[in-house]
Amino acid sequence: MDNVRKTIMLVDDNISNLTIGKNVLRDKYNVFTLSSGEKLFKMLEKVTPDFIMLDIEMPEMDGYAVMRQLKASPKTESIPVIFLTAKNDSNSELEGLSLGAVDYISKPFSPPLLLKRIELHSMIESQKRELQDYNDNLQEMVEKKTEDVFNLQNVVLQTMAELVECRDDITGGHIERTRFYLQILVNAMVERNLHREQALEWIKDRYFFVSAQLHDVGTIAISDSILKKPGPLTPEEFNEMKTHTTFGAQIIEKIRHRVNEESFLDYAKIFALTHHEKWDGSGYPEGLAGENIPLQGRLMAISDVYDALIAERPYKKPMSHERAVSIILEGRGKHFDPQLVDVFLSISDQFERVTELSYRILSGKSGAEEKMELNEMLQPASLYPKRQHIVME
Ligand SMILES: [Fe+2]
Repeated sequence: MDNVRKTIMLVDDNISNLTIGKNVLRDKYNVFTLSSGEKLFKMLEKVTPDFIMLDIEMPEMDGYAVMRQLKASPKTESIPVIFLTAKNDSNSELEGLSLGAVDYISKPFSPPLLLKRIELHSMIESQKRELQDYNDNLQEMVEKKTEDVFNLQNVVLQTMAELVECRDDITGGHIERTRFYLQILVNAMVERNLHREQALEWIKDRYFFVSAQLHDVGTIAISDSILKKPGPLTPEEFNEMKTHTTFGAQIIEKIRHRVNEESFLDYAKIFALTHHEKWDGSGYPEGLAGENIPLQGRLMAISDVYDALIAERPYKKPMSHERAVSIILEGRGKHFDPQLVDVFLSISDQFERVTELSYRILSGKSGAEEKMELNEMLQPASLYPKRQHIVME
């Protein structure tokens, strides 16, 4: 129990009751005596007591009406109220308690009993508060732990993705850019009502986009001579290259077996396995066609190919954005999901800007403003209306 002197407001139209009550309580409590409900509410504007002791039978505003008004305001609803009455019938007791009173004391009250009852309720209130504090703390601790786990997993995933990227040193920034493209595509799907529910679910799950970074994790199994070959691959080499999809899925599956129920690894596995499937069934590894290809794979196909086209390689110059857009358009309904190509076309200027920004950021040439712009571009506008405003400016 805390030792701070508690404050009690005693409300009764009978002045001698107020005097008796005050005499009993004032040694241990700060006591305010008030002769009507109206006066109580005036005082409550200035002081919030620990308890209110409330007479039921009062002219004009009776105890029940006072109680209803107390419970109707968020500021006063949680102040414990003890009813006082000369009545000794169980109906008024029941009515008082059902209105939310914590207790009921009959007048004339015995001073030691009154003190004991107040003390008891003080203890209950303190314990309730302690429990509430404990719950709030627990909630905070759980949130903090969840955040720590997310950060740790994020770092592990990113490091894994970077290790893969390091080895294949021709694709600098590819993993990050494809993730960014994927993000703006999914945001645009929400705005255009295409697979909206699914897209919203992904946006809310912060692991979804992080997991996309592992789509090429399987390339660690591909030999250097193939991975770094500065030119077209032979059919045999290409066959080996194709296995980075199935191998990636196997690596992720292995991790999945060691941890419990991690949806981001499910996402990562689908990205790895299906990002080279084609809409017309001519892709790999399964040769899936149309909607049999998971939506994730169909999205990643566009992001992945766009980036491969505009990126510089030792054996090729970077292609212009316009040329890359027209190649993706040519692949509409062949390589790519036609509806997703339409979404891509409607936001292709954003692809171009994200590319510029991420190149500048990755090369260390960008300022804080460009980082902020990229961040804003990756936010879903329909969930964060602020961005629409910035884009219009
Ligand atoms: Fe790939």
